[in-house]
Amino acid sequence: MTELTDPTGPATPAAPVAFPQDRTCPYHPPTGYEPLRDGRALSRVTLFDGREVWLVTAHATARALLADPRLSSDRRRPGFPIPAERFVGVRDRRVALLGMDDPEHQRQRRMMIPSFTVKRATELRPWIQRTVDGLLDAMIAQGPPADLVSAFALPVPSMVICGLLGVPYADHEFFEEQSRRLLRGPRAADSMEARTRLEEYLGALIDDKAKQAEPGDGILDDLVHQQLREGTLDRAELVSLAVIMLVAGHETTANMISLGTFTLLQHPDRLAELRADPALLPAAVEELMRMLSIAEGLARVALEDIEIAGTTIRAGEGVLFSTSVINRDPALYAAPDALDFHRPVRHHVAFGFGIHQCLGQNLARAELEIALESLLARLPGLRLAVPAEEIPFKRGDTIQGMLELPVTW
Ligand code: HEM
Repeated sequence: MTELTDPTGPATPAAPVAFPQDRTCPYHPPTGYEPLRDGRALSRVTLFDGREVWLVTAHATARALLADPRLSSDRRRPGFPIPAERFVGVRDRRVALLGMDDPEHQRQRRMMIPSFTVKRATELRPWIQRTVDGLLDAMIAQGPPADLVSAFALPVPSMVICGLLGVPYADHEFFEEQSRRLLRGPRAADSMEARTRLEEYLGALIDDKAKQAEPGDGILDDLVHQQLREGTLDRAELVSLAVIMLVAGHETTANMISLGTFTLLQHPDRLAELRADPALLPAAVEELMRMLSIAEGLARVALEDIEIAGTTIRAGEGVLFSTSVINRDPALYAAPDALDFHRPVRHHVAFGFGIHQCLGQNLARAELEIALESLLARLPGLRLAVPAEEIPFKRGDTIQGMLELPVTW
């Protein structure tokens, strides 16, 4: 293994590339980022509004910066890099957890941690398995072909996060649609309106829960009956937390299931290996997380000047992290573009790093392992129903994934 060091010396001056760019293959970083994959740690990139910000592409630099309290996640600070026009509305919003810095962030995160430990995820496995089995039963009963996104990849995490939070799954079409509009716009007005509708919906649900004498058994019920009543959390904070948990809890994992399945089907040797040895599954999930890096473009703004990798990031400058390029840093991973279930996939940043490292990662791993293992076991003949080039995927998005995945078996 090569030494875990970043190249020193200033970032190579080259014309800034545009960020974000479309992926040309759903499981590889955009080809437009190739010039940034020459070993440099940081580059200047241009955003939709013409602003130049830093893009971090080296692994060691990324981990150092993501753990650095001199970078802020507060979207309201001047200079915070907004990666797409549709997200400009967040500049006026106080976003729970993701958009907060310590100590405020830590206060909220502490309330959530007990619901997302490894132990809790392990306890939830039998219930996740039953959810997955029920969805596969229904898909198989309907017979091939099927759209794996709508029949399986989306409902698995959607049902799981609803059950956990105490949100009625019967409302899934509403919140899945709003979540889609929130993340993919197309315009800032759509994104903002979708956020407002989610806030209204979850606000009403929280008010209902607050009226109940006996709490239900969801995380939101606990927060309403403990933190809200005790005054350690106010209603607006709780609503913002609920939006983050509901959206982050289903969109990301759904995309990993669909894109993970597509990637396995495009790598028949790896798929055969996994079918022959299901014990490889946890390693396969970790490698897929690294390779697919579906959450691209983590964003921060510098609060002070920061000297790193021979470069000075000035106070007030925006810093973005390309997880897809960082997770293919050849300084850490040999043959980084290959799918390899035997490599030590240590320290990828597909779940982020530092204080904002994904709260739901233990849950997501459990869901991904159970969903992929069951899908492969129940459908030994699983294959694409149409040529791969015809399948639509999310381009240039902050969360990558498949829009549809027509399969047969
Ligand atoms: C495979 C699926 C998932 C991926 C790829 C993913 C990715 C990420 C990433 C990269 C971050 C860090 C963002 C940053 O630093 O700016 C994050 C944070 C977060 N994720 Fe996930 N996530 C996934 C699943 C989930 C699930 C199932 C939940 C369920 C609740 C969840 C909830 C959160 C929350 C609340 C945060 C903010 C944590 C904080 O700021 O302290 N995620 N996620």
